[in-house]
Amino acid sequence: MSQGEPLRITLIGAGTIGLSWAALHLQHVSATHPLELTIHDTRPDLEDYITKNLLPYLLDNSPTQPNNSSSQKEFLAHLFKTETLKLSPTFPTAVSHAHIIQEQGPENPSFKTTLWPQIEAHCPPTSLLWSSTSGIPASVQSAQMKDPSRLLVVHPYNPPHIMPLLEIVPSPVTAPDVVERTVEFWKKLGREPVVIKKEVPGFVANRLAFALLREAIHLVHTGIASAADIDTIVQNSMGPRWAVAGPFKSYHAGGGEGGLEGFFKNIGGTVQDCWDNGGKVSVGDGWERDLFRQTSETYGIVDTKERDRLTRRVLEAARGGEGAG
Ligand SMILES: NC(=O)c1ccc[n+]([C@@H]2O[C@H](COP(=O)([O-])OP(=O)(O)OC[C@H]3O[C@@H](n4cnc5c(N)ncnc54)[C@H](O)[C@@H]3O)[C@@H](O)[C@H]2O)c1
Repeated sequence: MSQGEPLRITLIGAGTIGLSWAALHLQHVSATHPLELTIHDTRPDLEDYITKNLLPYLLDNSPTQPNNSSSQKEFLAHLFKTETLKLSPTFPTAVSHAHIIQEQGPENPSFKTTLWPQIEAHCPPTSLLWSSTSGIPASVQSAQMKDPSRLLVVHPYNPPHIMPLLEIVPSPVTAPDVVERTVEFWKKLGREPVVIKKEVPGFVANRLAFALLREAIHLVHTGIASAADIDTIVQNSMGPRWAVAGPFKSYHAGGGEGGLEGFFKNIGGTVQDCWDNGGKVSVGDGWERDLFRQTSETYGIVDTKERDRLTRRVLEAARGGEGAG
């Protein structure tokens, strides 16, 4: 990229994750560097859809944006006028000059496997190629590419314009230079990229979250606690704790001077008991009906705006920032 040239990022797919990436780039990249963000999606009503649906993402607090709704609309119009934001219904044009191409289309192996060779055929040879997939590894997605060393997974934790984590998951053949350039990009943007050493189903964040979910389902299904009580327990214990220290640091602290080793010396037996009695649940086992009823009755439709506003404050507080007050 030459001096003064805008950073050209193309998003393929503008659903839940694509819109959130768009908000992230428009808020953070454009604050430090000229940006040309292109969105490609096969929706026939793409312009209306983006105009209507991107605004709520941009309404999230940001230092660089106006925060009342009419000035937000003007802001969006300005982004289109200055070509900071472009829509590209046609595929080759969307990628032909991109420095970075991020894919977040349907979670379907044949879609992704077919898409990458087409992208590869039309994009510059140095473009970074990232998939947002939750579970289709780069080694599968790159199967038909001429140069599979170009592709890796950049898995966000939803919604990426708020959540700092990015799981960087190379395939065994992804070039080290591609990994380095990817990590450098996200670090410069103040995000938290973590390189996962081997491809594994669910990567790491979802494996951890789903292990907790499995045990939570088991506890509801066996009548030990209600869904609402389990949420209260998590929100008032490990939830806030884990925003400031992950499980290893937390239990290392919990062991006092003996650290993690001391923790296991003290209560290793109880830990083992819980593991031995842990829930073994499978999707379709019959726990669904009661749990789905409980969550619908307790929560109805969850207000994700409120969730995101509070999550942002927690993150700021955990970093010692303004939300801490
Ligand atoms: N939703 C999440 O919590 C989450 C989190 C992390 C990663 N992901 C991953 O992100 C990807 C997208 O998930 P989502 O929840 O945003 O899905 P979504 O269904 O909300 O969005 C998919 C978008 O792709 C578009 N699309 C369909 N075919 C296309 C094509 N041929 N070319 C271009 N665009 C096309 C659709 O119109 C839609 O806008 C998936 O791979 C998913 O695993 C999702």
